[in-house]
Amino acid sequence: MNNQEVQNLQRSFELVEPIAETAASLFYARLFELDPSLRPMFKSDLKTQGEKLMSTLKLVVVGLDNPEKIIPAVQSLGKRHASYGVQPQHYETVGAALLWTLEKGLGEAFTPEVEDAWKNAITLLSGLMLEAASEPSY
Ligand code: HEM
Repeated sequence: MNNQEVQNLQRSFELVEPIAETAASLFYARLFELDPSLRPMFKSDLKTQGEKLMSTLKLVVVGLDNPEKIIPAVQSLGKRHASYGVQPQHYETVGAALLWTLEKGLGEAFTPEVEDAWKNAITLLSGLMLEAASEPSY
């Protein structure tokens, strides 16, 4: 990704940060509307989920700036997700819910450039997590 894309991500992330809890409730409502069977996998309260959502977004943002620094953390995250029962096809649903949340949360700031930057970031991160999840641990 180029600098412009990374900047787009970072600026839009700063706009979502102050509304983390609202964004989290939008995100999970959308996710469970898209796939109600995912609901029982999430056990924590909304506040904790809001924090998880923000750490997820932060990871994407930081990762694009400096992928080599976060690869080991993303690989462990991918393996942990396999243990939560997450299947490869769930990444598409989560990605769609995330983009929808960003669109609602950012309003006019969700420009086509910002959308593309997030799409690329989500694809990259999901790919790394899935790859790690499919590799054996030694
Ligand atoms: C797009 C990449 C994703 C990122 C960056 C991400 C990030 C996170 C983080 C930071 C946590 C906190 C726990 C931990 O660190 O292990 C978490 C938990 C969790 N994630 Fe994800 N996640 C992603 C995709 C998904 C997908 C596709 C699913 C499928 C439904 C999912 C389901 C869960 C569940 C069930 C938990 C535990 C929830 C709980 O205990 O309440 N995640 N995720």
